[in-house]
Amino acid sequence: MKHLVLIGFMGSGKSSLALKISQLYSIPVFSTDSAIIEEMGMSISDIFKDYGEKFFRLKENKIFAKIRNLSSLHIIDCGGGFGAYQNVTSLGKVIFLDLEFEEIMQRMSLRERFKRPLFDNLQSAYQLFLQRRKLYAQRAEIRFRSIEDLKDLFEEELNFK
Ligand code: S3P
Repeated sequence: MKHLVLIGFMGSGKSSLALKISQLYSIPVFSTDSAIIEEMGMSISDIFKDYGEKFFRLKENKIFAKIRNLSSLHIIDCGGGFGAYQNVTSLGKVIFLDLEFEEIMQRMSLRERFKRPLFDNLQSAYQLFLQRRKLYAQRAEIRFRSIEDLKDLFEEELNFK
């Protein structure tokens, strides 16, 4: 099954975009973060705090296997690390939501930042952003910069009506 796979840095708006696509085209969303939160019954920051990042990445590997077993089309809303480290191209059409770091900072509330342990230190978050951007770009079939172009992208490039 070829899914629509949304990748991009933390706070770039993947979940809002996934929801919008879902509403417009009635396609269900599978969020890798929500799947882990549900399975663990804990927030991501608590998982990082109690078990560490390595444990979280192992959970992402398990979620990858779960997605491979989905038998109907889904929008896959990938956590920032999932989109960079998992073999997302094998899951379907990869769409990279490509925002500048400054834009991400502007759109993210403090509350949203607190939910993301890798945003604890702004300087290292920026370094991570630079590394990750290259990985996302390598994996992306489509680069997408603005939610305003959503309909064009789906109806012209992806042939969704
Ligand atoms: C992470 C991104 C987060 C979440 C976790 C780690 C990352 O998801 O999976 O905090 O490594 O980039 P979002 O991209 O939805 O914020």
